[in-house]
Amino acid sequence: MSWVSIDYDKCNNCRKCLEVCRRCFFLEDETVVVRADENCCSLCGHCVSICSSGAIEHHMMDMNNFIDISRDKLITPDDFFEFLRQRRSHRHFKEQGIPKEDMDRLIDIVRYSPTGSNSQSVEVVVIQDVKKMEKLSNLAVDFMADDGEESARRLQELKSEGKGTPEELAVMEMIERYGEIMKQSREMGNDPVFYRAPAVMVFHSSKEGRSQKDNCVIASTTMGLLARTIGLEYTYIGIFEAAANESPRVMEELNLPKGHGVYSVIVLGYPKFKFLRTVDRKPTAVRWE
Ligand SMILES: Cc1cc2nc3c(=O)[nH]c(=O)nc-3n(C[C@H](O)[C@H](O)[C@H](O)COP(=O)(O)O)c2cc1C
Repeated sequence: MSWVSIDYDKCNNCRKCLEVCRRCFFLEDETVVVRADENCCSLCGHCVSICSSGAIEHHMMDMNNFIDISRDKLITPDDFFEFLRQRRSHRHFKEQGIPKEDMDRLIDIVRYSPTGSNSQSVEVVVIQDVKKMEKLSNLAVDFMADDGEESARRLQELKSEGKGTPEELAVMEMIERYGEIMKQSREMGNDPVFYRAPAVMVFHSSKEGRSQKDNCVIASTTMGLLARTIGLEYTYIGIFEAAANESPRVMEELNLPKGHGVYSVIVLGYPKFKFLRTVDRKPTAVRWE
């Protein structure tokens, strides 16, 4: 049986379904027919979403989740531009938990973010337990400190042998410096990884596939921006992403499904400070063709 069916009593023959999906929809004797299965259908739902007469049903998807779109609700370009421009990475948070219903709503937007081939493969670990966060942060700092020491050792070796390109040496110096900074910050009683935010979100997915990083970054960005509309702020934590993927101890503590990688990490919470001005940025290099 086809995954998708057309109710011909309702169909007004607008053929938009045919336009949006040439893989499962065909024209036979001037009538649109559909033959959808795992060989052609990616479960994108575009056929149902575009149908002007509500004649299409997808039997593999929850039809209650296809909700009429009201055009009145669109925000203005100016408002949206300012909203995006005023986003800042926040690293100071109030000691205030995020209500569960708000967390649920944020998580719910993840599944509506685009994914390569509609793989819908993004998974999230939400960490709100203070002890767990501390443990992960400490493991990440330990990893960066060890990495820094190893880099320092290699750097001395290469320098004494007169080897290594300036770029290689600069990267090693940076890793060494970063390890030191992280260690010092922890010794001063800070959490240099998660900033004691009330929530850490780890976006992960199977390493199999082609667009895991894009999928996870798009999902975390979409969620982060939505979070801003309810008074929360966020920051990407690339250092933890790197530590998780490179340190078996961090990965073990995260306890992800086997074969999964970490592709985006954010901290989230109510900001302690309010930024009062937008900031300057270099103009984007563009080539118009
Ligand atoms: C991929 C990525 C990784 C980042 N990793 C970290 C991080 O590990 N720790 C941190 O404090 N900030 C991190 N940031 C935040 C950047 O430092 C920040 O975006 C940048 O300084 C610009 O500031 P703005 O976000 O306020 O415009 C990261 C940002 C991105 C996009």
